[in-house]
Amino acid sequence: MNGNAVRVALLGCGTVGGEIVRLLREQAGELAARAGAPVELVGVAVRRPHKHPELGDLLTTDATALVTREDVDVVVEVIGGIEPARTLLLEALKAGKSVVTANKALLAEEGAALAEAADASGVDLFYEAAVAGAIPLLRPLRESLAGDRITRVAGIVNGTTNFILSAMTESGAGYADALEEATRLGYAEADPSADVDGYDAASKAAILATLAFHTRVTAADVHCEGIRYVTASDIAAARGIGCVIKLLAICERAPATADTPESVSARVYPAMIPATHPLAGVDGAFNAVFVEAEAAGQLMFYGQGAGGAPTASAVLGDLVAVARNRVHGGRGARESAYAHLPVLPIGAVATRYHVSLEVADRAGVLAAIAGEFSAQGVSIAAVRQTGGVADSAGADPVSAARLVVVTHAAPEAALAATVRVLAGLDAVHAVDSVLRVEDLGRKGVAP
Ligand code: NDP
Ligand code: HSE
Repeated sequence: MNGNAVRVALLGCGTVGGEIVRLLREQAGELAARAGAPVELVGVAVRRPHKHPELGDLLTTDATALVTREDVDVVVEVIGGIEPARTLLLEALKAGKSVVTANKALLAEEGAALAEAADASGVDLFYEAAVAGAIPLLRPLRESLAGDRITRVAGIVNGTTNFILSAMTESGAGYADALEEATRLGYAEADPSADVDGYDAASKAAILATLAFHTRVTAADVHCEGIRYVTASDIAAARGIGCVIKLLAICERAPATADTPESVSARVYPAMIPATHPLAGVDGAFNAVFVEAEAAGQLMFYGQGAGGAPTASAVLGDLVAVARNRVHGGRGARESAYAHLPVLPIGAVATRYHVSLEVADRAGVLAAIAGEFSAQGVSIAAVRQTGGVADSAGADPVSAARLVVVTHAAPEAALAATVRVLAGLDAVHAVDSVLRVEDLGRKGVAP
């Protein structure tokens, strides 16, 4: 062992961990030159050592012992999930080890506890890989933009769902086949429902909102809907109005009003966006995030959002930063959560909607439906009716019509109330889909 080396314990050696080991070995000389000391792997904890014969004596199944070992300076965690990662990282931090992790689920739930433990021991806690894979995004939010006032962070932060939606849009691939391929390529979480049901993106939104607004936001604060129920007809409907469907994470600062203090909103859902918007061209497992700040204006971050090597790149960047701090003394920038802004409930967030209904095709129906939108204060921007649709029972093809209503921006609560009333009308056979339409050009959130 090298006397002045920065000694690394790796927890997990799967899709990401395997690439970390490869890059640490292949780039050992360059990493040492950049860090100012060799970065040396001294132990790797896994569950099934027989799967990793190439790691020889480095392997252990006793992660607890590894994280507190005397000869470990930095713990890199790429196991995923809440436990045992939470306990292991808290133990490591308590023992004075710096931590690098890619675990967004853990950070979005226990970020405060981890940050406190790092502060108490005076060590680094870095997690660039936890959001948007290879894209340098968290360090710019935490450091480069620390002098500015961020108003919005919005974009595509889940590679798996973007891969699936891209495949469904471009080649008409089925949802299940596209998910299988994303899993095979190493993009999906161990339990892919974390991706398709939006939880992975919600964790990332919580991390982004925390850093952007200096306010602790957890995954539980983020309104979350996934892509499981996005159908081929939703995608066709989006195309019909010049849009594509993307799973968006949106974190916004809402200005104070006469009745409410300044607040933040964090939400994840599939939404139609204009086909001309730069996010519409972000395909496959790529991610892209727009950051808007008062002085800086709009910034766009784009790159590979998932996969072993891209994620390992972000982990190694953090590892070099930790190693430099160890070599030269001091700590890297910490996050701050001094602002304590309240998080708005989803009902208070305003956006536009695309509502697709199957209705009775007779006089007065359109007026009745428009009246219900009006009663809730939801302004209609466009209506399109196609007649002669077979009704949901498949009975009489001329008695039913498809009605698509696109609204102006309205609070979620008002739209939800409208849909509830519409669903109970005799003339409405089915509310087929309700999708948000985001132009991503508006600033702020309606009070
Ligand atoms: P994998 O499932 O491929 O790998 C997990 C690794 O952790 C495996 O080596 C596994 O051991 C090990 N492990 C699991 N449980 C334990 C345990 N109790 N003790 C010790 N080792 C354990 O996951 P990924 O590499 O894909 O993801 C790892 C982390 O990185 C997650 O937090 C994920 O969210 C995050 N991430 C992943 C990205 C990606 O594209 N894959 C991108 C960005 C972040 P064994 O090999 O023996 O099974
Ligand atoms: N499962 C995640 C995704 C990995 O698909 O984006 C990257 O965080």
